[in-house]
Amino acid sequence: MSDHPPVIILGCGYVGTRLAQSLLADGITVRVCARRLPMLEPLAALGADVHYFDASRPHQFGPALGGLIRPVVVYSIPGVPDLPQGEAVRRAATAASRAGASAFMYLSSSAVYGRSELVFTSEWVDEDSSVAVSDADALLRLSDEAAVQSVAQSGLRTVILRLGAIYGPTLDAFHPARGARQRIRTGQYKLWDGGKHFFSRIYIDDLVRIIRAAALKAPPNSMYVVGDDHPCPQREYGEWLAQHLKLPVPPDADSAKASGPRNIIRGRRLRNDKLKRELGLSLHYPSYREGELAIDAVEQGAKLAAISVSDASPPVVAAVAVEETVAPAPVEPAQASVEPAPAKWPKVASEEDLGLVLGQSARGVRLCKLTAGSEAIVGPAYVLLQGSASAVIAGQTVRLPALSAVPAHSRVLAEEDALLLALSDP
Ligand SMILES: NC(=O)c1ccc[n+]([C@@H]2O[C@H](COP(=O)([O-])OP(=O)(O)OC[C@H]3O[C@@H](n4cnc5c(N)ncnc54)[C@H](OP(=O)(O)O)[C@@H]3O)[C@@H](O)[C@H]2O)c1
Repeated sequence: MSDHPPVIILGCGYVGTRLAQSLLADGITVRVCARRLPMLEPLAALGADVHYFDASRPHQFGPALGGLIRPVVVYSIPGVPDLPQGEAVRRAATAASRAGASAFMYLSSSAVYGRSELVFTSEWVDEDSSVAVSDADALLRLSDEAAVQSVAQSGLRTVILRLGAIYGPTLDAFHPARGARQRIRTGQYKLWDGGKHFFSRIYIDDLVRIIRAAALKAPPNSMYVVGDDHPCPQREYGEWLAQHLKLPVPPDADSAKASGPRNIIRGRRLRNDKLKRELGLSLHYPSYREGELAIDAVEQGAKLAAISVSDASPPVVAAVAVEETVAPAPVEPAQASVEPAPAKWPKVASEEDLGLVLGQSARGVRLCKLTAGSEAIVGPAYVLLQGSASAVIAGQTVRLPALSAVPAHSRVLAEEDALLLALSDP
């Protein structure tokens, strides 16, 4: 990817970190800029150029953006309270234009469409929908967007992404998982107003794919709303996730009787047709199910998936590839063949849903690698593919013959390294 322009990320938190990880994995030059440099050390270790940068200091934009040829600049700072709204992003875009940037991308928010707890709506929202000009928080974002659009007049190719709620797994020691599961686990998650409000989410790896595609392909002065293919009422998601985590359904709460930022509901049903059409993308995590299963895999020890920017290629979990630790099966066609497997074939890795590996919807089927003496997660049904394992069935420990199927909710223990097929509800 040496012909890819360098990328400068202004404000490198959860999104910036995952974006940088993806770009660095593809050998692309990345500069990451923020104030707390220790939080960027994991990216420095991957090869990022780490740069101290405070967006409230006007003289810091030039140095942050200089010295690279036609960089893509991604502005990912939530707000700069010390400056009038719009000022920091205007300075950033102006400096990017002076630095000869090939694109300037501003990460905005679907908050521009206003609060939804005041007037319940199940209407779809897209790039042409009206924004909430009387809503203070929406106005903050709209001021930033207006600043970006004004600099676009200078010829700078600008892109605005209005993001729904981002969720995803822990990225490194400084960037823990995002989404509802931690709040469900700690009892803080509430279903507002009967859970009727619609929310749109976007799984972090799909967001990174969208940012990368937009950086290269989006037309000048473009704007996209960003959410997955399955916005849904909060109750559907909250109940599903609680059940998936084997926890009680979260409690109901009435937004009219509550106070504080949590009861301000900015959920919307975002229509993502434009970005898929113009950027030529389909999502690898089209609903919360695929995304939450991918978070499960990381929680269970799988490494973060490699992010495939080619739309045809499915995500691949790196570094826990089955064949690295489990003896090769003589009957497996790709390994028995004299010819190496074609590079376009996805690599099957432990804990990754096989549907997702194939670029389809999650199927609830994955490979599960156990080391000798370890135990499989209780819940899914299993099929023993390789190695030696026993199962506890009706109180009896039974040594499993190869290819035996073990019913769901049984304990499976590896006597030697073993490879199992796990089957759970997708
Ligand atoms: N997370 C969501 O669900 C969501 C939804 C819609 C929109 N968005 C927007 O998407 C963007 C990225 O989100 P995120 O979740 O990645 O945010 P995040 O994790 O909070 O990261 C923000 C980054 O900005 C840096 N930053 C903050 N103030 C700065 C300043 N004055 N100068 C330089 N850097 C500064 C922070 O680092 P330092 O503090 O070390 O400088 C951090 O690296 C944000 O604009 C956010 O509002 C997010």
